[in-house]
Amino acid sequence: MSRNILILASGTGSLAEAIIVATQSGEISGNVIGVLTDQPDAQVVAKCAVLEIPIITHPMSSDRKSWDSELFLIAQSLNPSLVVSAGFMRILAPEFISTFKVINSHPALLPKFPGAHAVRDALAAKASVTGATIHWVDSGIDTGKVIAQQEVQVLADDTEAVLHERIKIVERGLIVATISDLLSSMENSDE
Ligand code: GRF
Repeated sequence: MSRNILILASGTGSLAEAIIVATQSGEISGNVIGVLTDQPDAQVVAKCAVLEIPIITHPMSSDRKSWDSELFLIAQSLNPSLVVSAGFMRILAPEFISTFKVINSHPALLPKFPGAHAVRDALAAKASVTGATIHWVDSGIDTGKVIAQQEVQVLADDTEAVLHERIKIVERGLIVATISDLLSSMENSDE
């Protein structure tokens, strides 16, 4: 079985970088065939250049249906074994998630605090513990089956940015370990 990973990312790309470095060091036995971003100016683009990983830019268009169809065709041409949404701030179309195996990393302990402001929402709710979740992507917003979770304590003087950085440290370890396990179990189930 091939172990080709396609990463989707919209931001600084620290999760994408952790995954790529883990494939290059052998911690994940698989390879990143490319990183697709909807944000051509995002820091993840420069990170991919340094890491010598192909970057595919697919900026959002006013025609969302065409954008979804093109995203599907790009992914289909790459034929990934696993698609990893690592800070990709777009909802994926039903055809995409029913065709590809897609996982997502989320900065909260789902089902608590789904959505784009999970860290802010945890602070607003005065949660004493939050964390990171890796889950399968389904048609809802952060509703897919949970694969792995890890807690992070909320500290009294946490700001959104400080807490998010602490959660991202955990996310990077969890996503690498989860991808490694998933690729192995997918291969075993093929045998
Ligand atoms: C992560 O916290 C991810 O869960 C969220 O966006 C962040 C991405 O961070 N959706 P980075 O761009 O990989 O540094």
